Parts: sequence; structure tokens; C-alpha cells
Amino acid sequence: MSSAPNAAPQVAKGLEGIVAAATQLSDVQGMVGKLTYRGFDINDLADHSTFEETVDLLWYGTLPSHDLLEKLTRKLVAARPLPNEVLGGMELFPKHASTMDVLRTVVSMLGLHDPDGVSNSVSANVRKSIRLTAQMATITAAWYNISQGRKPILPRSDLSHAANFLYMLHGKEPTAEEAHILDTALILHMDHGLNASTFVARSIASTESDMYSAVSGALGALKGPLHGGANEAVMKMLLQLGDVSKVEPFIKDALANKRKIPGFGHRIYKTTDPRAEQLRRIALMLADHTGNRKWVEVSEKMREVMRRERPEIYVNVDFYSASVYYTLGIPIDLFTPIFAISRVAGWTAHVMEQLMDNRIMRPDSIYVGPKDQKYVPLEQRQ
Ligand SMILES: CC(C)(COP(=O)(O)OP(=O)(O)OC[C@H]1O[C@@H](n2cnc3c(N)ncnc32)[C@H](O)[C@@H]1OP(=O)(O)O)[C@@H](O)C(=O)NCCC(=O)NCCS
Repeated sequence: MSSAPNAAPQVAKGLEGIVAAATQLSDVQGMVGKLTYRGFDINDLADHSTFEETVDLLWYGTLPSHDLLEKLTRKLVAARPLPNEVLGGMELFPKHASTMDVLRTVVSMLGLHDPDGVSNSVSANVRKSIRLTAQMATITAAWYNISQGRKPILPRSDLSHAANFLYMLHGKEPTAEEAHILDTALILHMDHGLNASTFVARSIASTESDMYSAVSGALGALKGPLHGGANEAVMKMLLQLGDVSKVEPFIKDALANKRKIPGFGHRIYKTTDPRAEQLRRIALMLADHTGNRKWVEVSEKMREVMRRERPEIYVNVDFYSASVYYTLGIPIDLFTPIFAISRVAGWTAHVMEQLMDNRIMRPDSIYVGPKDQKYVPLEQRQ
């Protein structure tokens, strides 16, 4: 933060207001509730695009031609299977390990097996981005089956990224509606300015480390309940509430005791988060189609009570995604990994962008500890 000459330097707690990168990837306009990727409104992309096309747009900067999209899709499909050595290693993991911890570990393992090694050449990083983006879904589904004592289901090459993930998870092809819903959720989560995990990825890249290190660090950041981990916390809260009658006392008690309610609040949005609006629409539609209205009813009641009690705190992307995934039969431990399955395309795009005009990230700190201490030899200390 710039300060007047001789003024005491200020800590920007949580780095609020600090601009640490220029990006052409996404633009979060928090005052008006608008999000764009490469200048395209997220609502247009959610309504008309696909995960694969949006990845192409984010990485290469323009909406692809039919041929270019087919080319990238073929590469993503070919990169889906995991090396046997990695699958073998996963069989040895403790079965209770959380999927986010497994993702972080397996991404590191994949780095050991990547034929491009630690090369930071543009072409090597594009190939690594393709592999990481394809394989995040494969690892998640494989671990789900391994943790249940089953063999992983191998990826299919005739399904979209979203449909193939659901197929690898449940062993049966999803309906067109299920695949479309997940595809839309993946588009909505792909990139979001300099959020915490993307900042971590760019910081690691700025040291000229490697793509696998950047993505494993980003996974560690995403896992936290203040970031991507919030969608799992939301579902646990909805299950704990179980009924609309419990909502109002729960919210009033949380606010009175300054407890954060998962799925609400955002550093940048000072109005509705457009991703949350899209996911709310999907949650309401899914409730109509399945007849299971319980989770949207509890969610809608929460939204209504919060609008009344703290109108400046809006629902965020993690609020309605929770009940959407739950209604699709996805286990709660996979909610944050689904965020990662999408966001990896953003992280890798940011790593490549950082390296195009790099300077090491090195913020400053203010020392506030004791000064002028005298060293006392061990034998003379009390
Ligand atoms: C997202 C989040 C980390 C942003 O944090 P931040 O920018 O540092 O915001 P602050 O913690 O400074 O919050 C500002 C005020 O809103 C309140 N607030 C913010 N989010 C809140 C929430 N989810 N529930 C209750 N109060 C909340 C804070 O208590 C604070 O109130 P105060 O001014 O009376 O002290 C925060 O809103 C949060 O923890 N949300 C819940 C977790 C979540 O859903 N994360 C996913 C984000 S996409």
C-alpha cells in the first residue's frame, strides 16, 4: 500500500486493496456483480459454452474455431488416464484421507512422472496445463472408488469432461441434464481474479519453480474453509439444520457471536455474485425436476434471513453449489475437489501469464517483535 513519505507503513491485512498482478484472464467487478473471462460475461458462457470451450478461451484468448476446439478436446481426452505407478501409489494411501489432501499429494507425484519435468518453456507448460486439467478429474474419481475399496473406473474417451467425471465416479453414464449441470458449474468456477489459491500459484510461479509445485500449493490454499472448502461446510450446515424452522435461530446466534456462516460474504463482491445467481437457478430447477425441495427450501430461508439481518453480506459461489452437488448424488468430500477440477484451468493459465512478464513476488512486512535482545548462553538462562 503506498503511503506518504515518512508516514508509518500500514499493514494491508489480508492484502485487501493490494493490486499484485495485471491479468487478461478474468475481471471481477465486485461493485456491479459482474464477472468476465477474457471479456466474455460469465452468464453468456454458462448459458452457451462448455467446459472445454471455456478452457480454450481462457488459455488462448479467443473463442476457438470448430477445428481448434476439437484439437484441444482430443488432447484433454488423451491426457485423462493416470500413470499406473501413480494409481498404484494411491492404493497405498490411508483410506480415510480427504480427497483434497489426495489431490495435493497426487499432483506432486504426477510431477515426478511428467515427461516435461520441471521445464518452464511455453510449450512444456501448455502440455502440463493440459495434463493437469485432464487429470484432476481422474484423480478425484479414482480416489473416491479406491477409498471405497473398489478399483478405479478408467476414463472414457467418448464423453465430455463433465460427463466422463460423473461416469468415472458412479460407473454409469450420467443423464444429459446431470452432465450439463456439472459442465455449467465447472465453467462458473474456472477463474476469479487474484483469489487466494491463484495468488499462491502465481507466487510459486514467480520464483521460477514449476507448474506442479504451483498447482499443489494452490490446492493447499483452496482446501481452506474460507476459500473452496466453504462448499463442503455449507452442506454440513444444511444437513445439521435439516429444517427451515432451525434457520432463523441459527443465523441470529451465529451473527450475535460473530461466527462466519459458510457460503456468505466475499472480499470483492459488494452485491450479488453472478455465479451464485446461476447456481441458485440450477438448484431451483433441479429441485423441481427431482421433487426433492428440502435443501433449496433451507437454502432459500437462509438467504432470506441474511438479507434481512445483514443485507450487505450476499451468498457466494459456494452456497448453492453445495445442494446442487448433493442432489446429484456427489459425496460431500468431493465438493471442493470439483472446484479444483475447474479452477486448475485458471491456475495454469495464471502460471503461464505470470511467467510471460515475471518478477518475483516479494511483499514487505513490518517488524513488531522485541528489539535489541542480548544473546544469553544456554547455561546462564533461567
Ligand atoms: C469470504 C470471506 C473469507 C471474506 O472475508 P473478508 O473479506 O476478510 O471479510 P471480513 O471477515 O472482513 O467481513 C466483513 C464483515 O462481514 C462479516 N462477515 C463476512 N462474512 C460473513 C459470514 N459468512 N457470516 C457472517 N458474517 C460475515 C464479518 O464478520 C465482518 O463483520 P463486522 O464488520 O461486523 O466485523 C468471509 O466472508 C467468510 O469467511 N465467508 C464464509 C466462508 C466462505 O463462504 N468462503 C467462500 C468465499 S467464496
